[in-house]
Amino acid sequence: MKRYFLLLVITVSFIAKGFADEGMWLPQLLATLNEKEMKKMGMKINASDIYNISKGSLKDAIVSFGGFCTAEVISDKGLLLTNHHCGFDAIQNHSSIEHNYIRDGFWAYNNGQELTNPGLFATFIISIDEITKQVLNGVTPAMAEKERQSIIDKNINEFKKTVKKESYQDIIIKPFFDGNKYFLFVTETYKDVRLVGAPPSSIGNFGKDSDNWMWPRHTGDFSMFRIYAGKDNKPADYSPDNVPYKPKRSLNISLDGMKEGDFTMVFGFPGKTMEYLPSSAVEQTMKVSDPAKIGIREKALDVLNVFMRKDEKIKIQYAAKYASIENAYKKWKGEILGLKISDAVNKKKELEGSFEKLVLSQPAMNVAYVDLLKKLQQAYTDIEPYGFARDYYNEITTKIELFTIASNANGLVSAFNKDQAAYKKALPETLEKLDALFAEYNPAVDQKLFEVLMEMYVKDQQPGNVSPLLKKMLAENGNDFATLAKSLYAKTAFTDPVKLKNLLNGIGTNGTDPVTNDDASALVNDVVKTYITNISPRLNELQANINQLQRLYMQAQMDVFTQKVFYPDANSTLRLTYGNVKGYGARDAVKYDYYTYLDGVMEKYKPGDYEFDVPQKLIDLYNKKDFGPYGVNGKQPVCFIAANHTTGGNSGSPALDAYGNLVGLNFDRVWEGTMSDINYDKNICRNIMVDIRYVLFIIDKYAGAKNIISELKLVSKKKK
Ligand code: ARG
Ligand code: GLU
Repeated sequence: MKRYFLLLVITVSFIAKGFADEGMWLPQLLATLNEKEMKKMGMKINASDIYNISKGSLKDAIVSFGGFCTAEVISDKGLLLTNHHCGFDAIQNHSSIEHNYIRDGFWAYNNGQELTNPGLFATFIISIDEITKQVLNGVTPAMAEKERQSIIDKNINEFKKTVKKESYQDIIIKPFFDGNKYFLFVTETYKDVRLVGAPPSSIGNFGKDSDNWMWPRHTGDFSMFRIYAGKDNKPADYSPDNVPYKPKRSLNISLDGMKEGDFTMVFGFPGKTMEYLPSSAVEQTMKVSDPAKIGIREKALDVLNVFMRKDEKIKIQYAAKYASIENAYKKWKGEILGLKISDAVNKKKELEGSFEKLVLSQPAMNVAYVDLLKKLQQAYTDIEPYGFARDYYNEITTKIELFTIASNANGLVSAFNKDQAAYKKALPETLEKLDALFAEYNPAVDQKLFEVLMEMYVKDQQPGNVSPLLKKMLAENGNDFATLAKSLYAKTAFTDPVKLKNLLNGIGTNGTDPVTNDDASALVNDVVKTYITNISPRLNELQANINQLQRLYMQAQMDVFTQKVFYPDANSTLRLTYGNVKGYGARDAVKYDYYTYLDGVMEKYKPGDYEFDVPQKLIDLYNKKDFGPYGVNGKQPVCFIAANHTTGGNSGSPALDAYGNLVGLNFDRVWEGTMSDINYDKNICRNIMVDIRYVLFIIDKYAGAKNIISELKLVSKKKK
């Protein structure tokens, strides 16, 4: 009995302590939940300087950049700073063999030279409020998921009508803690966002895929944009008459740099984490789901690599696709490694052990939560084969672009079969999507992807989950995937934009047969149909069950571990994370320092290399030590790391010092620590930031864009 008690005390205090660096906190709750700890860790400002709805605060300088990254306002003329890889799509869209901004960089030396980016937007958060009561009104724990959701949807619709907002504002309502809480966000979205500057890829993406997710890092991963507003400073569609946006708040920039132990914050829009899963789910991620996705991407990357290395046009066309396939691929590999070295499954099991003991010790909880973990484990066992099929289907059908093309064509056929008006509306939208796709498409590359990935689709899956039409076509082609791919791509009209457009435009007069008789249309239809019949229904049922159990488990963890302060999993909403600058021990005898310098760029320099080439001008500046005010003691700082809890979507987020000044730009995490999405470990998890002084050095000394420097507010606390 005594021992049992001691165990309880130990586990509870173990859980309550040690969360200083972990957590992605909602900014409006900092004052109640975090301010005290933040000040103890070194923060010199107040929570109300970070989030305030009655006057300009730091949150008013942070935007969701295009919905996939973060950016920050750094001048009173709406200048935005984000990552190179966040602006990459825009940089690529403006690039051609003649104007290769990917290779050479781009700089606007006045507002007139800035480049427009249709579709790109920047969203500010005006206010955040909890509305759990209103949303969950009438919902009971015993309700089936469908019924629950329909009540929630109804409540949300009703509630939306009561929210006071300006005409140019939007509202977003999102679930937190797996649906146990709901928050309302009032937002303002600016849609005229222009490209201002980007360094060459040899700086902005230095080290490319070899260095991605790795420390030590030497990448100047930044690009710059500007928000334009209507004459009234309100959001407006693109117009040449729009003017630079005047922000409520822009960030001051500190030239002082960071020392080991210094307090930092990262403020942005983290996308997705799963910190409260049971051990069974973590184990499945490590052993089934991540490996399946990694296997498929490895094959796809091999194919792309061969084509991209020998053809400059393909290299430009496939650059963004390659980077994005590789990025998650490498992250999952690091995740498995990190889950292993942090012993995540056993740690979760330990936590589950104390959870069950605490539940058993309290009759009320016992009734509500007994057997919950067993049920979750069973649910994960049940979903495993369906999850595998889903991962295979999702990965493969998104890598082979013939699937995307045919799905678009088939979608138009369905629209036509519904009614003429639906077809007329869908036609121009579909053609526009296909135009964008074909600008970055090469049929020979796609054919090879089809050959390689469909072999995995057939051989790795249970036969019942494989499309019967594919099996038939394969048999007709001597059971050889290369022969099948060759004959399909030779016959189909879908890989030729002109032929395809004629077919789609012709549906109105010739009917749908010319489209559906194409082998690609039929095959893709059958692959989709097989999935929708054999996998989706059961998968959705099992997933709904897991969602319900996970929501209960989330609530249970909050009820049971009363000493712990909980943060909600990331869900692309605005969060602040804080920690101290520090190195880490990666493995036995390997300890990493927390700063890198331009010297390290030169150490990695390989003339002419695809990943490690360095522009001549940077070499010259290095040799002359011409660092201006941005260097320290004859060295130019480049990147640094800290124990901030970040994830995908935090790219481009500002790294702030104790005073809320901008000191860096978040862009990555260390390889061993990418499991922080599932199991944050303060000893290993570090976020990677480019030092703001490197950014300024590149803008000023490398690009000579004094016009940009003169817009900024540079501050220093050091005595000169
Ligand atoms: N790993 C970082 C992130 O998740 C950077 C990705 C861009 N860089 C690259 N080499 N693909 O987005
Ligand atoms: N590079 C990531 C992004 O695009 C940030 C790194 C991470 O996942 O932490 O958001």
